[in-house]
Amino acid sequence: MKDNSYRNASVAIITVTMLISIGYAVLRYHIFGSVPWKDFPFFILNKGISLGAFVLVTFNFTLGPAKSLGLPISEAWLNARKALGMSGFLFALVHALMSFMLFSPAVFSKLFEENGSLTGVAGISMLAGILSFVVLWAFNLSFQTRMLEDKIFIGFITSRKFLIWALLLGGIHLFFMGYSGWINPAGWHGGLPPISLVAFAFFLVGYLINLFARE
Ligand code: HEM
Repeated sequence: MKDNSYRNASVAIITVTMLISIGYAVLRYHIFGSVPWKDFPFFILNKGISLGAFVLVTFNFTLGPAKSLGLPISEAWLNARKALGMSGFLFALVHALMSFMLFSPAVFSKLFEENGSLTGVAGISMLAGILSFVVLWAFNLSFQTRMLEDKIFIGFITSRKFLIWALLLGGIHLFFMGYSGWINPAGWHGGLPPISLVAFAFFLVGYLINLFARE
């Protein structure tokens, strides 16, 4: 019998996920939308990177539970989980840094009031984004060998209860930022759903799999 225990699809999954995510952002905003190409290196790339980060993190949390539900997940995908989680976290870090630099009413008019203060909905979305980032950080830290002795901390952070709540933060970040655009399909460039909605669909599937499968 062939030994599959060392097969690992992480490089292929990360490369394909990031190419499709960035490609989707280009298609939606540059090809079908009217965003000028000068905005690709930062504004549009940030959207593609955030989508890729979200998908990789969702894979990381969901492949194991999906397997335990009986879905056909290969050994190479299961072995990739750690690399997917870590690279998803690092891409989320890039997204957070880029978002901090871009964060102004001139770039994100829908997140600000006329007087320049943050809207309530944007406040909820940004708080959830920051908390979900910190949770991802803690989750990645929990696998560092130096902390492996701390059984209580590791047990808590990798517990079903913690993960179910932690995953919700990502969904809240997306929902409060994007829902006003989701309900207006007439405004979708080229009929393509907003990136926040695509990511939310991944979140929903991943969340439900976790809810039903984690023991
Ligand atoms: C410090 C933490 C974070 C901050 C300050 C932040 C900020 C933002 C901002 C300003 C946007 C709007 C971007 C745009 O419309 O171009 C956004 C969108 C988004 N964020 Fe975050 N975020 C954070 C954490 C995260 C994390 C941890 C993830 C996922 C792993 C994530 C995934 C996304 C996604 C998928 C979008 C949708 C992009 C779009 O609709 O174009 N964010 N975030």
